[in-house]
Amino acid sequence: MNKTFYITTPIYYPSGKFHIGSAYTTCLCDSIIRYKKLKGYDTRFLTGTDEHGQKIEEAASKNNKSPQEHVDYIAGLAQDLWKQLAISNDDFIRTTEKRHEEVVEEIFEKLLANDDIYLGEYSGNYCVSCESYFTPTQLVDGDKCPDCGRQTEVIKEETYFLRLTKYADKLLDYIDQNPEFIVPETRRNEVVSFIKSGLQDLSVSRTAFSWGVKVKSNPKHVVYVWIDALSNYITALGYGSKDESLYQKYWINGDEVIHVVGKDILRFHAIYWPIMLIALDIPIKFRLFAHGWYLMKDGKMSKSKGNVIYPEQLVERYGLDAFRYYIVREIAYGNDGVFTPEDYVKRINTDLVNDYGNLVSRSISMVNKYFKGTVSKTKHNHEYKEHEEDLERVAKETFENYQKNMDEFKLAKALQELSVLVKRTNKLIDDTFPWELAKQDDKKDVLASVMYHLIESIRVISILYLPFLLSTPKDVFDFLGVEEDLRDFSSIDFGSKSTYTVVKKPKHLFPRLDLEKESEVIKELMHEGKKEEPRREVLPMQKEIEFTDFTKLDLRVGKILECKKHENAKKLLVSKIDTGDRVRNIVSGIAEFYKPEELVGKYVQVVTNLKPVKLRGELSEGMILCGETSDKTLYIIEVSDKLLPGDKIS
Ligand code: ME8
Ligand code: MG
Repeated sequence: MNKTFYITTPIYYPSGKFHIGSAYTTCLCDSIIRYKKLKGYDTRFLTGTDEHGQKIEEAASKNNKSPQEHVDYIAGLAQDLWKQLAISNDDFIRTTEKRHEEVVEEIFEKLLANDDIYLGEYSGNYCVSCESYFTPTQLVDGDKCPDCGRQTEVIKEETYFLRLTKYADKLLDYIDQNPEFIVPETRRNEVVSFIKSGLQDLSVSRTAFSWGVKVKSNPKHVVYVWIDALSNYITALGYGSKDESLYQKYWINGDEVIHVVGKDILRFHAIYWPIMLIALDIPIKFRLFAHGWYLMKDGKMSKSKGNVIYPEQLVERYGLDAFRYYIVREIAYGNDGVFTPEDYVKRINTDLVNDYGNLVSRSISMVNKYFKGTVSKTKHNHEYKEHEEDLERVAKETFENYQKNMDEFKLAKALQELSVLVKRTNKLIDDTFPWELAKQDDKKDVLASVMYHLIESIRVISILYLPFLLSTPKDVFDFLGVEEDLRDFSSIDFGSKSTYTVVKKPKHLFPRLDLEKESEVIKELMHEGKKEEPRREVLPMQKEIEFTDFTKLDLRVGKILECKKHENAKKLLVSKIDTGDRVRNIVSGIAEFYKPEELVGKYVQVVTNLKPVKLRGELSEGMILCGETSDKTLYIIEVSDKLLPGDKIS
């Protein structure tokens, strides 16, 4: 029976279009799985989307969609993108699917029944974007999130906790006894020191919003998205369902399970997930490979900076093979890498156009020119024999080094090793001057032997490219007339194919790119993202007024001290606002958009000289300024906290 190999990507948040960063993880996994298939493993490849949580709920409402509509749309985009990138996943799990939700409910109840989850109360700074609490020592710049830099919110809620403390020592033992559990080693060390610095029990339910899996025994709580999300790796295999055959095959009795994740989500996978598994009495089984990030020259990719690049854009202009090659080649194992248009063009020109593409077209054209398209292996002692033997040696070594690196997920290094063979093969042409040999009648045999070595080496090289380039190696096999059974690792040995008849005119593999021109094109593409900044329908403008009309308004900075719901009006909030001169009572029609507690502490713009009015029995001594969208959603216009209550706005 073949060994099994189960690989997973993180399940991505459907918060927007996927840039090359998300594509990086997925392409890495896809190349690994294609390699494992070539090695004869029985493989399974999972990806999907992480569709619950407050962040998704908020993104949906920003787009005027229900959460379900929103996630359906983006999960569709994700599936289209993976199809376009020829990702060979066997399954696509969405956390809003019944097969997943039902099992998450049960997992939670099981942990509760075992007392690994208990009810308590939590108060702390929460980052909605990262869906995580942070302790005061973790916060940066006052109360900003240490991971994404966004403002955190103070949240106090009744919540369930998972007993991380109970299992911390067990986990440390496990990591100690399984040195390969987390790779690279630097990440493993990070995790160990994090655990040693002291774990706290983890808050694993929320009551502040409803978009999630409800806790079955206490439905006002929803299950924390990370508990929900991490479970996908086994729910997708049918764990806890009627048919557990995949779970039995690839997890319980499986040989290798690999979760590939970005360094940003290491902690969740290296601590919470194994502890969940220990508590559920499921063998840990998996290993973790944490990779680095694609960055831009000016830091993280962001639409507003105009530095985002999307996979579709590069694939459309430069082809899928070039994109897939670049994306796994450019970042060294575990490190971050910087995307620049120049590097992109250079990488393709150097490795694919000059080294590989050129080798193929030169070699084929020489075989046509000197031997009418047909060459065979010859046994002949001649002056260039040593060069040929050296090439054979390099081919053998390359395969060994390549496998060693692939087995350790060092894909960029494996490709670098492969480049050594491509270069060595090109060098055989420089070493032997075929055009000179062709002029000498008594050197026909020598020339034939050199040609055979070139072509045979191209076959070997193309086999090694198979996990990375999807159409090119197949095209090359076709050019060379390579039979199906000589296109894989079982026939990698030099000399496995003894006669070649090549095509007359191979089609061009990779066009040479003009560095300057194409760098500009990619820069343009990066700015297109910026142009795509959302726009909205604009309401009609007002008639012109005099400046003096404007100066009649007395606008001041106010700080909201207290806020409550209006007792007799659903749409109104009543705030106590410090406007410098005194504390005013102000009624505003924003109850649909803000909860009273969200407003306390905010610095807002207040019109202070409006004649006071009573609104449903509450005195209102001013007005808070809001922005209004064409669909009548209101957003408070906050002001810089450098300004103080009573400062004039003009
Ligand atoms: O974290 N460079 O989802 P997510 C390289 N839903 N990789 C990048 C990247 C970049 N610039 N940007 C993103 C989540 N990634 C959770 C995961 S799993 C149970 C739940 C990759 O959409 C990287 O692998 O934020 C990162 O871990 C993943 O996308 C995060 O995707
Ligand atoms: Mg993220």
